[in-house]
Amino acid sequence: MTTSSLLQASGLRKTFGDNVVLDGVDLDVPEGTTTAIIGPSGSGKTTLLRSLNALTVPDAGTVSIGDVSVDFGSLPRGKEGRRACERLRAQSGMVFQSHELFPHRTVLGNLVEGPVQVQGEDPDEAAARARALLEQVGLAGREDAYPSQLSGGQQQRVGIARALALRPRVVLLDEPTSALDPELVGEVLAVVRDLASQGWTMVVVTHEIRFAADVADTVVFVDGGHVVERGPARDVVDAPQHERTQRFLERVLHPG
Ligand SMILES: Nc1ncnc2c1ncn2[C@@H]1O[C@H](COP(=O)(O)OP(=O)(O)OP(=O)(O)O)[C@@H](O)[C@H]1O
Ligand SMILES: [Mg+2]
Repeated sequence: MTTSSLLQASGLRKTFGDNVVLDGVDLDVPEGTTTAIIGPSGSGKTTLLRSLNALTVPDAGTVSIGDVSVDFGSLPRGKEGRRACERLRAQSGMVFQSHELFPHRTVLGNLVEGPVQVQGEDPDEAAARARALLEQVGLAGREDAYPSQLSGGQQQRVGIARALALRPRVVLLDEPTSALDPELVGEVLAVVRDLASQGWTMVVVTHEIRFAADVADTVVFVDGGHVVERGPARDVVDAPQHERTQRFLERVLHPG
C-alpha cells in the first residue's frame, strides 16, 4: 500500500480492574483502506475500537487520526483532557451493534441533528446531504419515516448514513450486523462493501469472516489483548500463519 496512514494507534493499554484488556496494541490504517478486526469474544475488539475515538479512554498509548493526535498516557486532567478526546472523536464516525437512533425523530431528523446542532451546518445543506446519503444506503424516499417503521436492517443503514453525515475521516463499525436477523445481514454488508469501494477509510469489527476476507484490505486478529497476526485480508483468512489464528478461524469457519 503506497498511501500514507490516516489512522495510527500505538502502544494502547487498557485495564479494567486487574483484567488487562489491551496489552500494547498498535494499528495502522492507510487512507482509503478498510481494516477488519477479528478475534474471540472478550478479546478486546470493542475496547480497541472505542479507544480509537476515545469513547473508552486507554491508560496509555497514542491515537492519531490525520493531524489530530492524543497521547493517553499524558492526557491532561479535567477540561483540557476532555477537549483533546472530543477533538479526536470528531475525526471518526461510529456505527454500533444496534443503531441507537433517536426514536422520536424522523430518519431525516436523525441525519441532520449532528451536522446542524454540533457542526453548525446550514439546515438546508445538511438535509440535501442527508438525502444523498439515504440514497447511497438504499433508503431514498424514506426520510419522513420514524425508526420504528423501519426494519432492523433499514435502521442499521440509517445508522451508517448518520455516521457518514458527520463527514468523518474514518468510519468505525462495531459488529454492524450481529444484532440483525440473518436475512437482514446481507443488505447492511452490501452498504459497507459499497463504502469500501468508494474509498472510505474504515475499521470494522466483525464476525463475518468471509466478508472480511472479501471486502477488507487488511485483517487484524486480536487475542488476549494483543495483535496476534495482521496482513492482507485473504492471506490472514485463507493462510493464517499463527497457530492461534488458525485455531480461531477453524472454529468459526467450520463449527461443530
Ligand atoms: N466498561 C467495562 N468495565 C469492565 N470490564 C470491561 C468493560 N468493557 C469491557 N470489559 C471487559 O474487557 C474485556 C474485553 O471486552 P470487549 O467488549 O472489548 O471484547 P470483544 O472482543 O468486543 O468481545 P465480543 O466479541 O463479545 O463483543 C472483557 O473481559 C470485558 O468483560
Ligand atoms: Mg465487542
